[in-house]
Amino acid sequence: MKLFVIIVPIFFFYIANPSQAQSPRQSGNAFLSADLLQQQKDPTLNPISLWLDQGQELWKAQCQSCHSNLSETAKAVVQFPVWKSISSASGKLINLEDQIADCWSKKNGQVISSDAPEVLTMSVLLSDTAKGMSIQVREPLDPLIKKYWQEQMNLAGQIYVRRQGRLNLSCTQCHDQQIGKNLRSDIVSPAFLTGFPIYRFSWQTMGNLDRRLRACYSGVQASVPASGSPELRAIELFLKKRSDGMLWDGPSLRR
Ligand code: HEC
Ligand code: HEC
Repeated sequence: MKLFVIIVPIFFFYIANPSQAQSPRQSGNAFLSADLLQQQKDPTLNPISLWLDQGQELWKAQCQSCHSNLSETAKAVVQFPVWKSISSASGKLINLEDQIADCWSKKNGQVISSDAPEVLTMSVLLSDTAKGMSIQVREPLDPLIKKYWQEQMNLAGQIYVRRQGRLNLSCTQCHDQQIGKNLRSDIVSPAFLTGFPIYRFSWQTMGNLDRRLRACYSGVQASVPASGSPELRAIELFLKKRSDGMLWDGPSLRR
């Protein structure tokens, strides 16, 4: 059985057409079944509604004292990740969840991880509020910071085409060359970043982009970067920038 699991995808990728076509700019929602799309549209059937209710409560209790306007704050959803300087010579990319965790820690005097359930809940609420906004990743104006930012873009561009893992496959070999094909009961999308966090039925819960990306790494049996690692932040920047101008879908259902 194990051998079968390894051999079949290899067969699939080497025999199947390896064309280098430019990916059409499509949201992951375009690859959902009609049933799932229906469920996503109907708040009484969509499991994400539970996270939204909880998010509203937490917003009032934890955020509103400093942020008076939810839709203003939600603009970060379509603009992040951003470069955060630590000194003039160093800094790092932070995503929405890093920012929320940072705010939470400031308010409560206790450090929480960007993977914490409270952070995920707030990310779901902000993502939902940003529905329909145009993705516009914020580029740094300062030339030095722009240089650091560009280095992260370049790094992720290299990772995107780098073969890895025991299956020896790169991101682009699936997400540009196998779009629309079936892969382990999923349909491969072009991996534009338009609707996170996701409720994934195979997880039976919500997960952030880190969790999704980690699943892609382990799917090719590569060593999996830690959640919140600089590598995953760089990839997020690259995928989000590639999605500039597309409209944000909000938190999404996935198989
Ligand atoms: C003690 C005040 C304070 C609280 C409470 C607070 N924040 Fe913030 N938040 C800030 C400040 C100040 C910034 C500007 C960036 C920085 O200094 O980190 C910010 C920035 C942000 C941003 C980036 C976009 C923007 O408006 O600048 C988001 C998103 C955000 N906060 C979300 C939240 C969420 C969600 C909560 C509740 C869990 C929260 N914040 C609670 C002070 C706060
Ligand atoms: C073996 C094929 C394969 C490889 C290699 C792969 N992925 Fe995936 N990826 C999938 C499948 C299958 C899904 C789930 C269906 C979908 O949304 O495309 C997925 C989902 C995603 C999604 C979520 C899209 C959405 O809207 O839900 C992103 C983003 C993504 N992959 C990025 C990457 C990146 C970045 C890499 C390289 C580090 C990578 N993937 C490598 C197969 C792969």
